[in-house]
Amino acid sequence: MADSLAHAGPGADESIEPGRRDFLFLATGAVGVAGVAAVAWPLIDQLNPAADTLALASIEYDLSKVALGSEVTIAWRKQPVFIRHRTPDEIARARADDHAPMKDPATDASRVKAGHEEWLIVLASCTHLGCVPTFKGGEYGGWACPCHGSVYDTSARIRKGPAPKNLYLFPYTFLDNTKVKLG
Ligand code: FES
Repeated sequence: MADSLAHAGPGADESIEPGRRDFLFLATGAVGVAGVAAVAWPLIDQLNPAADTLALASIEYDLSKVALGSEVTIAWRKQPVFIRHRTPDEIARARADDHAPMKDPATDASRVKAGHEEWLIVLASCTHLGCVPTFKGGEYGGWACPCHGSVYDTSARIRKGPAPKNLYLFPYTFLDNTKVKLG
């Protein structure tokens, strides 16, 4: 069971299913978090997960612990992951911007599970150099990175600053209405 590390303020199918591509995403995130010198082994490990490693990598999380409009940060294989319970306003704001110019274009629907649009689960690692963004609202209603000013919206899409990519989606599966398997 994952431990909650922090509560940070008031909250795709195709790209979020567990699989090789997700591990590539995670490996990319690890570069930012751990730095180049320490990343060689984890990179290899995550690109070639053995079956028993995959089993151990999955954890269950009870979403009922996350109030509407708030988020938790959990640790998964030493990497922070945001689980945000989005408000209807946050969802509407993300969808209103679906066709706005973006560095890494993606619709909001492609970043969440159909029927569970209120849940956004992403690696908490800025895609610039790996700092942990904070949820601040502000210009795009989402996260801001304290290191070099990257700004993400309520779908965790990069909207401003040096980060090249959206916050990476984290693989998860709903086990029932409130419980998810992460990883
Ligand atoms: S690490 Fe986030 S903007 Fe540089």
